[in-house]
Amino acid sequence: MKEIKTEDRLIVALDTGNLTEAERLVEELMEYCSIFKVGAQLFTAQGPEAIRMVQAKGAKVFLDLKYHDIPNTVVKAAEEALKLGVHMFTIHTWGGREMMKRTAQQLVATSLESGLPRPLVFGVTILTSIDQKILFEELLHQVSLKAQVRSLARLAKLAGLDGVVSSPDEIQDIRDTCGEHFYLIVPGIRPKDFPSEDQRRTNTPSWAIYHGADYLVVGRPITQSASPKRVAEKILKEIEDAVKDRLSLKTPP
Ligand code: C5P
Repeated sequence: MKEIKTEDRLIVALDTGNLTEAERLVEELMEYCSIFKVGAQLFTAQGPEAIRMVQAKGAKVFLDLKYHDIPNTVVKAAEEALKLGVHMFTIHTWGGREMMKRTAQQLVATSLESGLPRPLVFGVTILTSIDQKILFEELLHQVSLKAQVRSLARLAKLAGLDGVVSSPDEIQDIRDTCGEHFYLIVPGIRPKDFPSEDQRRTNTPSWAIYHGADYLVVGRPITQSASPKRVAEKILKEIEDAVKDRLSLKTPP
């Protein structure tokens, strides 16, 4: 298991279009987490200002725009993400090996030339809101979801990405295929008694960490709760306990 600080393992998704609201969440939650996710909603509404706001508070940014385009376009977008100083960001594994490989290589080169740190790059596999039925019936995809995720994760690793984003269901498979050093970000996290909403492949924080997730992305269970702070604190404790259990290989929760 990698040595990652517990407060780095919980990534809170700032899914709002309002900068003041995002800022309030960062201030309230900084005690429990040090990486905040800026995704499609906040970035579309506020642009790089949202990234600068998180950084100005002393926290790190996970830019989740899931770049999915031709290699040249993704490479250029990745360089902009590096210049913005994000800690990690996502591209889509469905963009293929060349797109992923060129992005990973260019980031190393740009980082060396500019002296700016290289962000970690993660490949999105299959969204946690998609299940096997949707994959077969709507997307007419004939391969099993698990096999597809495993194969995309392997491709991402071969292309030189730092890790992938997957649901709790595929953690074990990806660990088996890509090894312990490959990073795994897991959304679709629902503490006990929280509704899954539009997410289809979900599990609890402790389950995901125990089975090998490195980072958890949590949005609505924290941001929409009456007390974001209390929920974040509870999740962090769950993460801490699961890390200890995994290290001592106790029975899974
Ligand atoms: O509110 P909730 O906890 O479901 O939010 C999960 C976050 O993780 C959202 O911001 C969503 O964009 C992101 N995400 C996801 N599934 C992926 C990749 C990212 O749910 N495969």
